[in-house]
Amino acid sequence: MDLTNNFSQHNERLMLKHGGNLEQEAKRLGVHINSLIDASASLVPFALPTPLQNCLTQQINGNALKIYPDRSYLTLREAISKFHKIHSSMVLPGNGASEIITWAARDAANHGMSFLPSPGFFDYKRALRCWDGKFITSPLPLKWNSTFPQVFPLEPHRQVAWITNPHNPTGQCWGRDSLEDLLNSQNLVICDEAFLPLVPDGEKESLIPLVANHPNLIVIRSLTKLFSIAGLRLGYAISSPMRLQQWQEWRDPWPVNGLAVMLGIKLMSEEHLLEKQIEKVQNWVKEEGRWLQTNLQKLPSITAHPSAANFQLIESNASLKSFREALAHKKILLRDCSSFEELGENWLRVSLQGRSNNRRIIKAMQQVLRYTSG
Ligand SMILES: Cc1ncc(COP(=O)(O)O)c(C=O)c1O
Repeated sequence: MDLTNNFSQHNERLMLKHGGNLEQEAKRLGVHINSLIDASASLVPFALPTPLQNCLTQQINGNALKIYPDRSYLTLREAISKFHKIHSSMVLPGNGASEIITWAARDAANHGMSFLPSPGFFDYKRALRCWDGKFITSPLPLKWNSTFPQVFPLEPHRQVAWITNPHNPTGQCWGRDSLEDLLNSQNLVICDEAFLPLVPDGEKESLIPLVANHPNLIVIRSLTKLFSIAGLRLGYAISSPMRLQQWQEWRDPWPVNGLAVMLGIKLMSEEHLLEKQIEKVQNWVKEEGRWLQTNLQKLPSITAHPSAANFQLIESNASLKSFREALAHKKILLRDCSSFEELGENWLRVSLQGRSNNRRIIKAMQQVLRYTSG
């Protein structure tokens, strides 16, 4: 058996399942990583605010790398809980939302069949497979309008409901009212709100205020999207203290590294920093989302679907595989959707950038479409 070959094939499969594989794509295309526009991963295009950059520098020169973080993450938990106005025992920081998803899946596996809206974020299946968790996918309607929030369209008759709000990859934001009913009918509801702070007015749809009265609810949050700190890794769970205590006992001793802890404390406790970032990001999603949607819609043979989030799906009635590859050679990376059940090669996901890069994306798309049609 050729292990090296197996490993690289596995890596290729992972690249198709997740955007943001900049290093490998740059190598494949023979270009410098910084020359690429990465519209395959959905991160904000803003530099980390200066006070947070300064915090990281100070911490690198201070103790954050030298000493073990506090295993209980008490100060960080208190800062997060104060922001959300809940008790600190209802918060557990994680090594990105992804680590939290792994533990949520362990509970899901013990509560029966998981119900996964499809197309959906691939990581839920990865996490469920870790624990032999049973799951079933249920197709979401692939046409929707541009009024958000929307009514969650599926009626899960299974024991565990996984919700992504806003949904990835469609960008639909679900109304809290339409999700609330699930809490009374399911053994467990896992609501991934990784992108919710980026959605204009999205916070109103959060299930966090319902956690205190619903021990069967887990809400998952990520800070890696909002601040573009995907390399640092920071997310958290909000759920019942008993559940989180159990996860804390199961997991590695220091899953959140010292730098992420110190940055997390700084940004969650200085609320003006967080609120300023949320306002800036939501304004960007509102303005650039509208601009990109309008301009994508003008492209021939492309349908641009509405989105409340910082990414949009485009669809064609033929394969978009060579279109995506032609754009990659123009140094623009889009998210391949062939790994999403229900979508396939005729779909791509485009993540919002700043205006000049959005212009470059549209211009490059126009050129490729002109070339292939003529
Ligand atoms: C819906 C959703 N949830 C969670 C995550 C993972 O977030 P994190 O970087 O915090 O692990 C992603 C990453 O793409 C995502 O799309």
